[in-house]
Amino acid sequence: MSQLTDAVDKRRTFAIISHPDAGKTTLTEKLLLFGGAIQAAGAVKARGDARRARSDWMKVEQERGISVASSVMTFDFGGCVFNLLDTPGHEDFSEDTYRTLTAVDSAVMVIDAAKGIETQTRKLFEVCRLRDVPIITFVNKMDREARDPFDILDEIEQTLALDVTPASWPIGMGREFLGCYDLLKDRLALLHRKGRGDLPDEGEVCEGLDDAKLDALLPDHAVATLREQVDMVRGLCPDFDVEAYRAGHLTPVYFGSAINNFGVRELLQGLADHAPKPRSQPASPRPVDPTEDTFAGFVFKIQANMDPKHRDRIAFVRLASGHFQRGMKVKHVRSGKTLNLHNPVLFLAQDRELAEEAWAGDIIGIPNHGNLRIGDAISEGEDLRFTGIPSFAPELLQKVRALDPLKAKHLGRALQQLAEEGAAAVFKPRIGADWIVGVVGPLQFEVMADRIRTEYGIPVAFEPTQLYTARWIAAEDTLQMKRFCDANAVAIADDHDGHEVFLARNAWHLNKAEEEFPSVRFLKTKETAA
Ligand code: G4P
Repeated sequence: MSQLTDAVDKRRTFAIISHPDAGKTTLTEKLLLFGGAIQAAGAVKARGDARRARSDWMKVEQERGISVASSVMTFDFGGCVFNLLDTPGHEDFSEDTYRTLTAVDSAVMVIDAAKGIETQTRKLFEVCRLRDVPIITFVNKMDREARDPFDILDEIEQTLALDVTPASWPIGMGREFLGCYDLLKDRLALLHRKGRGDLPDEGEVCEGLDDAKLDALLPDHAVATLREQVDMVRGLCPDFDVEAYRAGHLTPVYFGSAINNFGVRELLQGLADHAPKPRSQPASPRPVDPTEDTFAGFVFKIQANMDPKHRDRIAFVRLASGHFQRGMKVKHVRSGKTLNLHNPVLFLAQDRELAEEAWAGDIIGIPNHGNLRIGDAISEGEDLRFTGIPSFAPELLQKVRALDPLKAKHLGRALQQLAEEGAAAVFKPRIGADWIVGVVGPLQFEVMADRIRTEYGIPVAFEPTQLYTARWIAAEDTLQMKRFCDANAVAIADDHDGHEVFLARNAWHLNKAEEEFPSVRFLKTKETAA
């Protein structure tokens, strides 16, 4: 096996999706602990707390050096190299979160056992579904009073229209939570309520549920319930089928308690055993296979760097194929220019030492002054264009105005640049002098206002609009398109790339437009073309 094939086979690039408070930060920390990337509990947690506090936002921003590094966390476990991509999921929920999911091969969905599927989980799940990203579910907080596990499985199946199968089964819950039986590995793991930093042992290998070891290790009523419930759930759920999971049709469900380090090892083992290795990336003129010898990658996220005044940015590139080495010269396909990558940020290194290389499936950060944009391709010379890196229709729209009217023109330029970075969607209505900014999380308006003021020296105000949503519009028939735009002139705007957008006032307005112009398509996502 070549070194490249070997490296690709071992890679697991994934993200965690969840609703705030379900335990993503805690689980992330425990994954790093099991992966040997951190030594003590507490390291990641501090960040989670800082994030939650709104007033702390600026501080978090100033510490961006840290957040750049923690946007991608790399660790080893079970012979695999894991790249965990952070998806900010609190009030700073943004398009970045969505787009990060275009750079992963699988996801872990964390659910609070008492709350089930919550709104943000559902939204993120829908994005995963767009690309058939396979999902492993972790039902967290079993050490608290939780919902009935049957109920939880049923809710996942019903609300997400996804087949479910338990990978482990909980024995009790809350104070009575004793542990889990691993249904895929036939292993009994018991919860020892030790110190939070202790890693649990690997559990007891059993020969199925009838093994007498269970009777010896568990109270009678607990074994009886376990046998009965597993019998029942096996009758209700399909068997685990790795192909159905990898196709995004079935989710294996693990139960655990991240705070007690419980269930984390099984989850990691599940990822190592079943999660897909880097997959072929959709691109034109041809898909790109990870095991191709030549290097290629795409930008999925841009992050302003420590010193915003210098417009320094880090472009996060997912390697789609090949082997990357520090100092490589690559082609920036959109401009046709050569980039000399002598100073990339690589996340592979333990202890933050700079590493020298990366492989397909890994992420590298490229410092730049704004020449790299979301969706851009870099290659060893081939004119590739990666597809499937969409922009998502924003859900909140506000008008932005320069407090000093003389700065209106500068504001246009600032908005253009921020839109290119993917910080928000920016629309210029064809009629009137306003700019409309669209975001998916309300905190993004504050972030934008602050950046426009500090980085461009333009104080601005955001004002509410009567707008409900934005849709990119397209039609094969150019005449129909023109007729539509003429008939709806006040609702037509251009985005920063010059693509036409329909700004709907309410659901009825959008429905009416769709009915009246059936040949016009109203798109919730737009491909970010390189
Ligand atoms: P998030 O990143 O998804 O927002 O969640 P986070 O990990 O910050 O966890 C949210 C809260 O849930 C935290 O409590 C955390 O300690 C708790 N938690 C996480 N996993 C478990 C679990 O398995 N069992 C129990 N019982 N609680 C869990 P907090 O009160 O906000 O913080 P802290 O005071 O505990 O640090």
